[in-house]
Amino acid sequence: MLYPGIIRKYRDDLPVAESSIVTLHEGNTPLFQSIRLVKELNLPIQLYYKLEGLNPTGSFKDRGMTYAVSKAHEAGFRAVICASTGNTSAAAAAYASRAGMLALVVIPKGKVARGKLAQAQIHGAKVFQVDGNFDAALNVVKEVAEHPKVTLVNSINPHRLMGQQSAAFEIVESLGDAPDYHFIPVGNAGNIVAYWRGYKAFHEKGLAKKLPQMCGFQAAGSAPIVEGHIIEHPETVATAIRIGNPANWKAAEEVAIESQGFIKAVTDEEILSAYKQVAQLDGYFCEPASAASIAGVIKMAEQGFFKKNASVVCTLTGHGLKDPDQAIEQSPAPIHISASSEELLKLIKL
Ligand code: F0G
Repeated sequence: MLYPGIIRKYRDDLPVAESSIVTLHEGNTPLFQSIRLVKELNLPIQLYYKLEGLNPTGSFKDRGMTYAVSKAHEAGFRAVICASTGNTSAAAAAYASRAGMLALVVIPKGKVARGKLAQAQIHGAKVFQVDGNFDAALNVVKEVAEHPKVTLVNSINPHRLMGQQSAAFEIVESLGDAPDYHFIPVGNAGNIVAYWRGYKAFHEKGLAKKLPQMCGFQAAGSAPIVEGHIIEHPETVATAIRIGNPANWKAAEEVAIESQGFIKAVTDEEILSAYKQVAQLDGYFCEPASAASIAGVIKMAEQGFFKKNASVVCTLTGHGLKDPDQAIEQSPAPIHISASSEELLKLIKL
């Protein structure tokens, strides 16, 4: 049978008229076990990556966007609007095109990774950029969304988080239970809330026996929740989570408390190191923001945090090809040779 996307898979949790469903068959992403990274770093755990970069637009945003755009279509809106550090706008643009709706996106100028901007553009979104950060862009779109023909598809829209819960459902289905710990990057702080709701929903239905501790990670230069105040000028190489005033701040703090987890920070160095390690040891290329979750696992393992053999899931939120400039910057330049095998073989040790 053709995999139908998350709305048809989880029909009772995501109510919408059948004729309004807008899907790119998102979801059903692999849960992929780390072999070499855990071994090389001596991590005493079973580590799994939820590969959200394998969604149709290359990030977890597709799960929320299929439902938000379907509901917008059902309600008869003409356009969707979002502020974005890149991935939300890519998903909004793709789903709006599938629905025959207009996508309006507002991004912080110069701070959106190239692949993401390319996606919004090729799907025909109207792209606006502001001299300011994500938080300034979000203020603009909230006002435009007061127009009767336009609806907001940032994660303030409750349908987004309802769709994003489906990733937690899939993890429970794959493992047969919730993991002991769930590690996740935190930007606007919606996804950590969505996962927790998803785990709790399956727990209440008796489909999971336990609940995970939710462990969120912000980038140190953009860590308002960790520092306890708005960051006026957030900075980090992980541009996806370069956010100084997260919309779901309160709810994310409640998740950390309720799940007996936490929200902490990792530095850009730790993020980039994890970004390279997962690519070079486990063969998976994620974007820098996604690697904040792995950086968090490495940091907590160093502090002896984990009970032995614990199951840990890391959400790798977006594909590495979203941000090719960062990958190239982090790697040695290609070596120039004359077109000769001899010269190549002289330059390597086998
Ligand atoms: N990882 C990636 C790759 C993201 O794009 C985002 C958020 C996050 C993590 C954080 O998730 O906001 O739910 O805490 N990106 C948003 C965007 C802000 O506009 O694409 P969150």
